[in-house]
Amino acid sequence: MAKKQHGHTTAKITSAHGLFYDYLIKSHSKKFAANYLEANEKAIENIKEIVDSERIKCDFEYQNNYVYTTNKSEVSNIKKEVEAVESLGFPCEFVTKTGLPFEIEGAICFKNQAQFHPLKYLYGLCNSIISHNGNIYSNTVATNLEQLIDNTYVVHTKYHKVKCEYVIVATHYPFINFPGFYFTKMYQSTSYIIAIDPKKTLFNGMYISSSEPIFSYRTAKLGGKKLLLIGGGDHKTGHPSCYQDTYGILEKEARKYYPECEVLYKWNTRDCISLDKIPYIGQYSSAMPNVFVGTGFKKWGMTSSNVAANIIVDKICDKKNKYEYLFKSLRLKPIKNRDEMKNMIVQSANSLLFDKLKDANLSFDEIAYNSGSIIEINNEKIGIYKDPNGKIYAVKPICTHLGCLLSWNDIDKTWDCPCHGSRFDYRGKNIYDPAFRDLDFYDLND
Ligand code: FES
Repeated sequence: MAKKQHGHTTAKITSAHGLFYDYLIKSHSKKFAANYLEANEKAIENIKEIVDSERIKCDFEYQNNYVYTTNKSEVSNIKKEVEAVESLGFPCEFVTKTGLPFEIEGAICFKNQAQFHPLKYLYGLCNSIISHNGNIYSNTVATNLEQLIDNTYVVHTKYHKVKCEYVIVATHYPFINFPGFYFTKMYQSTSYIIAIDPKKTLFNGMYISSSEPIFSYRTAKLGGKKLLLIGGGDHKTGHPSCYQDTYGILEKEARKYYPECEVLYKWNTRDCISLDKIPYIGQYSSAMPNVFVGTGFKKWGMTSSNVAANIIVDKICDKKNKYEYLFKSLRLKPIKNRDEMKNMIVQSANSLLFDKLKDANLSFDEIAYNSGSIIEINNEKIGIYKDPNGKIYAVKPICTHLGCLLSWNDIDKTWDCPCHGSRFDYRGKNIYDPAFRDLDFYDLND
């Protein structure tokens, strides 16, 4: 039952990225915030144009988007956001009634936002590319990018080399560390979703709470049914969740309002978060002309990826793009989010150095079946997973990206990196960027 569905995203297509515009006006300017909003509104329009012109059947539908609170003390922040958005000339509304099956204290509503089925949209895009004589190669992992003297490039994969004039690094978390240094300015966040059949009539609209604990709601179609997607439980990848059982918390939330509901799917996903909360779109590094990047979309990748695609295409075609300056990937503006920056430096130092010197918490015998932990054998740290039958899987728990000490994720049975979010299955196979090499594996079963 617990399957990955929906392409690891809630697929809300919206310019309401939480409570964001008051922050943008204060940290940048009104003009900056207005252009950011306009860029995202244009992305919604552009996605609709693509859906129509390419005749993609992807359940695209316009919906109102709400950022809401159930907490009285948070209402002033929602009202501030309403004022901020109105000051940009964009119509929004403060409301106290929504379609949600519970009372709220207030919400900001953006009309004419949208949702779709992301995989159906993606398949439609792929068909469209192929029908226009484009080629798509999947399961071909890029492992290196070589710059030639004439500023053309060679992308290395395991078995091939591809020579090219332009390169777009759209690998979610950039895997090229130097130059670029994206690992110093981004981290990954994990969040969880369940899809339920509510066995009851559902509401319209897309919703997200404005502050912790974050819950996100949207409906989706499956066959003739309308399902409800409930998300939440965000935490930094590789760090413990504040919940013992995040899926259980989401299910409990669902059953409060839909006691007869059936949980059909569960999945979790990772998002790249830049330290100043603005995506990186544009040139990868000043040392690499004609290499471009789009990353750091926070939780709003459906709209931000469209913005990124248009900016990068314009750059390659030598066309001016009004929104390019907002997302400059080479920006040097001091990072306002000092707390997050400090956290990242401290956590990286711990995982790279100090945690490796600490004693392991458990001994081999203390590890339960179907669980994992780091232990020490002959002064060496070994990552152990015992499967439900007691079979042992042992890995070297050092991340193949930049060498941080990994931590055990008992929900997914994976080794996750607290530094930049790479992940490995219990056999040590790399399953998530920015690392792309597997862990060393030991055979301890004899
Ligand atoms: S993801 Fe960077 S060190 Fe692990």
